[in-house]
Amino acid sequence: MAPASGASSGTIRGFQDTAKGISMSLPTSLPTTAPGSAVILTGDRPTGPLHLGHFVGSLRNRIAYQHTYRQFIMLADAQALTDNMDDTGKVHRNVVEVALDYLAVGIDPALSTILIQSQIPELAELTFYYLNLVTVARLERNPTVKEEIRLRGFERDIPAGFLTYPASQAADITAFKAVLVPVGEDQIPMIEQTNEIVRRFNRTAGREVLVEAKALVPEIGRLPGIDGKAKMSKSLGNTINLGATADEIRAAVKQVYTDPLHLRVQDPGHLEGNVAFLYLDAFDPDQAGLAEMKAHYVRGGLGDSLVKARLEACLQDLLAPIRARREELAKDKGHVMQILKEGTAKAREVAAKTADEVKAALGLTYF
Ligand code: TRP
Repeated sequence: MAPASGASSGTIRGFQDTAKGISMSLPTSLPTTAPGSAVILTGDRPTGPLHLGHFVGSLRNRIAYQHTYRQFIMLADAQALTDNMDDTGKVHRNVVEVALDYLAVGIDPALSTILIQSQIPELAELTFYYLNLVTVARLERNPTVKEEIRLRGFERDIPAGFLTYPASQAADITAFKAVLVPVGEDQIPMIEQTNEIVRRFNRTAGREVLVEAKALVPEIGRLPGIDGKAKMSKSLGNTINLGATADEIRAAVKQVYTDPLHLRVQDPGHLEGNVAFLYLDAFDPDQAGLAEMKAHYVRGGLGDSLVKARLEACLQDLLAPIRARREELAKDKGHVMQILKEGTAKAREVAAKTADEVKAALGLTYF
């Protein structure tokens, strides 16, 4: 596969839409494979409600992609179970919560197909065959899996399903013949491993049954947590959720990490690592006004409270309509489930066709 210009193999770094405003415009340098026909697949493990980090890192882009690509969005409940067998209820509950987040931000089920992973048995079937195309050693070397094993403290007691989830993710991606997989940086090894499986499979089959995929990594990087930690994450407790109430937003903004050296209003302030300004970069629609605020802050004479007041106003404006839509949609969960049911049925047809092709290529056809 030819790497995109200036990109590492299998990765496209093309987002011009760096943390500037909340425009939903398409990144300018996406590959130009016949719009409308190229398949994009993304997924989330439904283990908690989505937050501003998801909004900046993935949801905004999905809202744009759905107009140009054939987009599948997977609620990866089966993958979520690989490290949540002690709390299956959490995964079940969060399927609808994450779906509400999708719909509330503007993912349109008429344009994007939202599906529930566990309800497509062909994905498990494909996983079973792909497991023969990876070695345990290769899975153990997968940097993302390795890091997750460390973080979860599995040590030697790694659930086999967890160790092998890259094969399941390869099934997710290949079942839909996705050519683009928008993911965070940490997921690049998954796409690389998927492509290894694809190449091995096609070599075994003697023809191109499966297609390789490219990771589409936003250049914008991660939105830090409100505490200044590099990542906004539920497990770190430093998030602002998309469904946050006005009071929750206010309380979170109060806690936002700024410049610890900026003790008096008249002191010059620092922008580096200053989460209030990093968030304003991402969410203030008035970027010219923001540039002036930054200059004032650096010069001295601008207090954190005014910066935070501006940030709160921006976040309240951004999240109020999302929250309102979310609350409206949540009143009729049956309707949401119907959307997921239809999306899953549509997706299953595609996955079943691929599973048939895969089985035929392996000689698993008898009757
Ligand atoms: N592993 C992804 C995550 O943890 C979720 C996921 C599952 C996924 N299947 C996928 C992402 C397929 C992209 C494509 O966020």
